[in-house]
Amino acid sequence: MGESRVVATAPSNIALIKYWGKRDGVAQWPANDSLSMTLSAARTETTAALLDAPHDELWIDGARIATDPRDKAHAHLARLRREVGLGAAPLRIESRNTFPSDCGVASSASGLAALTLAALGAWTDAGSLADLASRGFDTARLAALARLGSGSACRSLMGGYVLWQAGERPEAQSVRQLLAPAAFPLADVIVLLSRDKKLSPSTMAHKAAWTSPLFAPRLAGVPERLARVEAALRASDLSRLGEDIEAEALEMHAVMMTSAPQATYILPRTSEFIVWLRQARRRGDFEAYVTLDAGPNPHVLTRPEDAETVAARIRDAFGAQDLIVDLTGEGPTLTRNAT
Ligand code: PMV
Repeated sequence: MGESRVVATAPSNIALIKYWGKRDGVAQWPANDSLSMTLSAARTETTAALLDAPHDELWIDGARIATDPRDKAHAHLARLRREVGLGAAPLRIESRNTFPSDCGVASSASGLAALTLAALGAWTDAGSLADLASRGFDTARLAALARLGSGSACRSLMGGYVLWQAGERPEAQSVRQLLAPAAFPLADVIVLLSRDKKLSPSTMAHKAAWTSPLFAPRLAGVPERLARVEAALRASDLSRLGEDIEAEALEMHAVMMTSAPQATYILPRTSEFIVWLRQARRRGDFEAYVTLDAGPNPHVLTRPEDAETVAARIRDAFGAQDLIVDLTGEGPTLTRNAT
């Protein structure tokens, strides 16, 4: 068993209907249903091998992560061991992102999803996702486990458009693919206005959401917006989708900025970008809509055939040079390699 290692890859995702605020932090029970688009190129690749040593060895982007129960990845490994009841064999884990960490691409979503797959793959000696499923870890169970590491990670276990439903009880949560990537491929032009690390970690800010006077009205409006977004996706209708996803992202940031303590993730340049994009769209320059994660970097959704034009306008007319152009993508993979 120790002769080989498992290689898991998991995609990042960008939420169209946001997960913001949780009803329970331990079970990661979200305040509302959310819906995301899985990305294609923005992925985490994580390898895991059984290790003859007293502790896990964890490397992220070439740097050793000291064993510390407060670290998200180490804490997740400890949690997986408790949850699955498998022997506590230490692992050597190496993880790499295909995109810069903390740049507005959710590295915690792809990272925690890939870590879940790689660790379980190593412990169960699985060589594929089908093997993992036959050992009791089907997609639903994997999503539930990944969620405990980072809420949005549960949506990185599937490709295309993914719905995470909160359910009536923490155990009644569910995650499923609404549409395959080919049903409505979109491009996501990620505009890296800043590569600085986040100022407010999302864990704290999720808790604070309830203190915003805007949060209750937001929650009341989510089901209708979600239904409209789902209908627009099924109809492959970017125009109907766009207005709603822009309003959704701005609403989430309004909640963040009016919570106590407040969290302001956007930068002056983010606001400038939103104003610029809306004006360009109104002039008929192109059709593209903006959404945001818990960070300052806009994700611009447009039709794949328009992505290069939109990227060129962002470079030339807006003056932002640091762009990543990504697409709707497939779900995770798991393979086994000889070391
Ligand atoms: O998964 P977390 O706890 O990092 O929360 C992420 C929440 C957002 O990215 C802001 C929205 C979402 O639904 O992904």
